[in-house]
Amino acid sequence: MAKSSPDRNIALEMVRATEAAAMAASRWLGRGDKNGVDGAAVGAMRVVLNSVAMDGVVVIGEGEKDNAPMLYNGEKLGRGSDPAVDIAVDPVDGTSLTASGRQNAVSVVAFADRGSMYDPRHIFYMQKIATGPEAADVIDINAPIGDNIRAVAKALGKRAEDVTVVILDRPRHEDLINEMRAERVRIRLILDGDVAGALSTCKRDSGIDLLVGVGGSPEAVISACALKCVGGNMQCKLWPRDKKEADRCRDLGMDLDKVLTLDDLVASDNVYFAATGVTDGDWLSGVKYVGDTILTSSLVMRSKSGTIRYVGAEHKYKKLESYVNDVDY
Ligand code: FBP
Repeated sequence: MAKSSPDRNIALEMVRATEAAAMAASRWLGRGDKNGVDGAAVGAMRVVLNSVAMDGVVVIGEGEKDNAPMLYNGEKLGRGSDPAVDIAVDPVDGTSLTASGRQNAVSVVAFADRGSMYDPRHIFYMQKIATGPEAADVIDINAPIGDNIRAVAKALGKRAEDVTVVILDRPRHEDLINEMRAERVRIRLILDGDVAGALSTCKRDSGIDLLVGVGGSPEAVISACALKCVGGNMQCKLWPRDKKEADRCRDLGMDLDKVLTLDDLVASDNVYFAATGVTDGDWLSGVKYVGDTILTSSLVMRSKSGTIRYVGAEHKYKKLESYVNDVDY
């Protein structure tokens, strides 16, 4: 018998998973141990996702089975019953940010109908352009950056020099950043975390209008899930690191010139996305410890309805212990 699609009841389960991962990860705040952050988050998220009534398969995970003991691509999660879902996880987008006690680290998870998420395992990076609902129809990844900035400015009813672009601070972006500086646009350089960067383009008062540049492919698919829920837009292109990776992509029949649209990245119109702040950020507050209570700030959204729900939670400390009891502190 065909498996059913996820329905809205699953949204709260997703928030429980990102809350658990954020709480576990945030205990490693500023301790300089990126792997500690990731390990704690992955372990906690897995405990919760495995308790959900679903037949889930990780499409975007922590890498291949041999390198990632848990939440690896292809791993089955849930209790095996309906609904059948593709799962994208990033237990912490911004592991280094968390390890160095910086802002804008989030824990995210996305669900969509089975078979609908792009499988990015053969390509490490993608070139990306993303924006929120108001400028969704005007971006073009093949157009010069100046044209995109002017088009976004017009759609948002502001001057081009008042558009704010977020971009990862990487040597590979040197030319693009110089081009943007020549356009006299405002630039927010981020050390890590382009999922939060893409999301922030959709929040009116974040002050961020556009994300550009090259970042992780798994993060592209996760961001696409989020943007589909909020009505934003994203276009991507495969960005091989070297000739070997480019040749491999071509051998696999992947088109390096193709513009990947939101529908290419996640084909389903039944997409769910949840995020919890690990550290304070443009959209969500980070995890806070108050007495024996832990405060978390999350959002959950669904593409079909377009509703965004904010979930502020107070957790008893012993709850955290149940998620992390297999993690060595
Ligand atoms: P992790 O925290 O999961 O390691 O990812 C952080 C991140 O900044 C992503 O947001 C981004 O897509 C990617 O790394 C960029 O990769 P790189 O650091 O290799 O430029």
